[in-house]
Amino acid sequence: MSFYKNLKFMSLILPTQPGPIGVFDSGYGGLTILSEIRKVLPMYDYIYLGDNARTPYGTRSFDIVYEFTLQAVQRLFEKGCHLVILACNTASAKALRSIQVCDLPILDPSRRVLGVIRPTVEHVGQLSRSRHIGVLGTAGTIKSESYVLEFRKLFPDIRVIGQACPMWVPLVEYNEMYSDGADYFVKKYIQALLSQDEQIDTVVLGCTHYPLLLPKIKKYMPAGITIVSQGEWVAKSLQYYLQRHPEIDARCTRGAHCTYYTTESEEKFAESASTFLQKNIEVHHLDINE
Ligand code: DGL
Repeated sequence: MSFYKNLKFMSLILPTQPGPIGVFDSGYGGLTILSEIRKVLPMYDYIYLGDNARTPYGTRSFDIVYEFTLQAVQRLFEKGCHLVILACNTASAKALRSIQVCDLPILDPSRRVLGVIRPTVEHVGQLSRSRHIGVLGTAGTIKSESYVLEFRKLFPDIRVIGQACPMWVPLVEYNEMYSDGADYFVKKYIQALLSQDEQIDTVVLGCTHYPLLLPKIKKYMPAGITIVSQGEWVAKSLQYYLQRHPEIDARCTRGAHCTYYTTESEEKFAESASTFLQKNIEVHHLDINE
């Protein structure tokens, strides 16, 4: 499946000189991944793009997530990125493969788009002793079965139990992480997950927003269950990827700078992003659906 609705897309002229690494999320969640990436790889330049105007992606159809994600990737390429990380599980689950297989060969076969699911699975598969793993994610990620399929490929002995947590992203997006409502919904989905399989010993936070709920998640997760946030593992995997691909590494500029773009209001993004990053940032508005 490919999404070429207009000729403008096909006649895209992309800058060829080296550029920043692009990091894309449907909203703020990818900032948790970006922070970890910048800890491990501080020397590169980055562009973060949050599609806050159209978030959440988690409840949207395959076609729409694919269309939106492709538009974002296209914009990041136009901004000079040769490497784009889909720091969003929903986009990784619903759009990554189509973009890699159908779109990159036409857009520019030398550019790369990577996701967050595979690096997470590679790490988590080695952790579980019981070989029963829980995955918490958006409805879209869980329904796509992307985690189940990736585990099946890499660790066929593992049983994967998914649980959609549709209220968690809104809790984070609306800064309600510390509210009583958050307690209610965090407990509810953790219980729903664990009631499906008593042998779960490792739980993946399969959505980039969820690390912001970590204090509450820890409160309701029984002791002895390992909770995995994916940022650190995505970052290490990217580091390893760049070591293995010097031709891509050479096309990533090193100035230790990050530019932030949002499809929504700049002020709103800057204010909310400070919760994720614990610092003030300068943000620019960008339309990606033109
Ligand atoms: N941050 C996205 C993810 O990792 C989900 C947020 C949304 O639903 O847009 O799946």
